[in-house]
Amino acid sequence: MRLKYFSHSAFQITTDAGKKILIDPFLDGNPTSPVKSKDVDADFIILTHGHGDHIGDSFSIAKRCSSLFICCNELANYCSSKGFNAHNMHIGGSHIFEFGRVKFTIAHHGSMTSDNYYAGEASGVILSIDGKNLYHTGDTGLFYDMKLIGEMTPLDYMLLPIGDNYTMGITDAVKAVELANPKTAIPMHYNTFPVIQSDPEDFKKKVEALGKKVIVLKFGQEILL
Ligand code: NI
Ligand code: MN
Repeated sequence: MRLKYFSHSAFQITTDAGKKILIDPFLDGNPTSPVKSKDVDADFIILTHGHGDHIGDSFSIAKRCSSLFICCNELANYCSSKGFNAHNMHIGGSHIFEFGRVKFTIAHHGSMTSDNYYAGEASGVILSIDGKNLYHTGDTGLFYDMKLIGEMTPLDYMLLPIGDNYTMGITDAVKAVELANPKTAIPMHYNTFPVIQSDPEDFKKKVEALGKKVIVLKFGQEILL
């Protein structure tokens, strides 16, 4: 599969079979994204929670591409209420889709939409695609069960926030990598706004001191996983 990073928590996965999956596509209102929503396609859109910087441009993309939303029940119902197709799941549950397996995890965070709809619990998501396991933590503080998550699904990649203020900062994110024990960590949710300024190279240096690998993706960069 290929992984493209738009900045913030927004990624696109393109599977070997050509299926396109967007995660938290916050693009048009995102000052750091080099790509706008009209230039992005999605067969599936996975949302970790209902905050505006995660739902982002989901609805305009889904309308144009007839994308299927995959998210936890309350947020999936919110998407359905807006007229979109959604597959309802919830934390701890997994399901096999045509592109691979999706499993939702806990995240310690809120999940109110910008129009004040309570979108249930915030979540993280583990994707098992083309033989690799990728954990996108969503917005979250550090929690010890990351160790359990990594034990139950050996992780190839962990995408995690380092921006502080709303989520883990660097110190907690380094501990999160130690607990979940992925082969490679990829920082996200930083430098979008002044309040979440963070140095990904400092994170990289500290994680590498644990003997683990970090890839700092440039905003707009796509890599083969
Ligand atoms: Ni959030
Ligand atoms: Mn956020």
